[in-house]
Amino acid sequence: MQLLDGKKMASEMKTEIASEVIQFKASGGKTPHLATILVGHDGASETYVSGKVKACHEVGFKSTLVRFEVDIPENELLAKIVELNMDDDIDGLIVQLPLPPHISERNVIEAIDYRKDVDGFHPVNLGRMVIGMPSYISATPAGILEMIKRYNIPTEGKSCVVVGRSNIVGKPVSILLSRKGYPGDATVTLCHSKTLNLKEIVSQADILIAALGQAEFIKADMVKEGAVVIDVGITRIKSSVTKSGWKLIGDVKFDEVAPKCSYITPVPGGVGLLTVIALLKNTMLSAKRTIYP
Ligand code: GUN
Repeated sequence: MQLLDGKKMASEMKTEIASEVIQFKASGGKTPHLATILVGHDGASETYVSGKVKACHEVGFKSTLVRFEVDIPENELLAKIVELNMDDDIDGLIVQLPLPPHISERNVIEAIDYRKDVDGFHPVNLGRMVIGMPSYISATPAGILEMIKRYNIPTEGKSCVVVGRSNIVGKPVSILLSRKGYPGDATVTLCHSKTLNLKEIVSQADILIAALGQAEFIKADMVKEGAVVIDVGITRIKSSVTKSGWKLIGDVKFDEVAPKCSYITPVPGGVGLLTVIALLKNTMLSAKRTIYP
């Protein structure tokens, strides 16, 4: 069993992006600039957003954080998005999710200029991804693909089972792994809460992607010997042992599943750490006008 080490990959990729920024600026390019909007004070969102801001500074990007109180009216938030869309210095614009219930996530995502949608959530980017055109790929699917590539994990003809059909992970990653070329050409099955015989389907997987958001749902008796297991789950539970008072648990019961795997991601230290890197890579692409010249 080999660990898919997100921590090592993230640190290598940050070094690569930092030198790309230096080269880009040396050849007359601008400083890549990511703007993040955070509404309210949700604990997990605060942690993710501060991770994004810190990562920007580490690789030499500019970062702007716009904060609103939880009761901001939707039209004020949309007006700010329009303003940031028009700001030529800003290459990437993201609104941290989830949003409070009185704000429509769909209206917000559609208000972001798709050319700055480095989260890859806008229907234009998702649609382009589906038909194989260049687009911003959202952070978690991009992190999963990067991990598969860096560890040279074969995907062609493999049986890949994705558990969870969210718009930001399950759906896009299942489409990406079934696309032509590497890392793709897999035979993908997308399972969800209404799937019958889930255990039987999951246990056929050469590559298993667990993205359902239920702590330790995948047990050893559901996993094929020699499978590659990628755990996207991050459930936060209270802990008296850690300094932060929180502990992260994956969707896979790691201790019993790991001995059966050829490769497995730990939680924490797996895919989660790559998501911020994917966001930086998309912002770099935007600064270089690669996807949308
Ligand atoms: N909330 C959880 N994951 C994400 C993400 O990748 N982007 C944004 N904007 N919000 C999130």
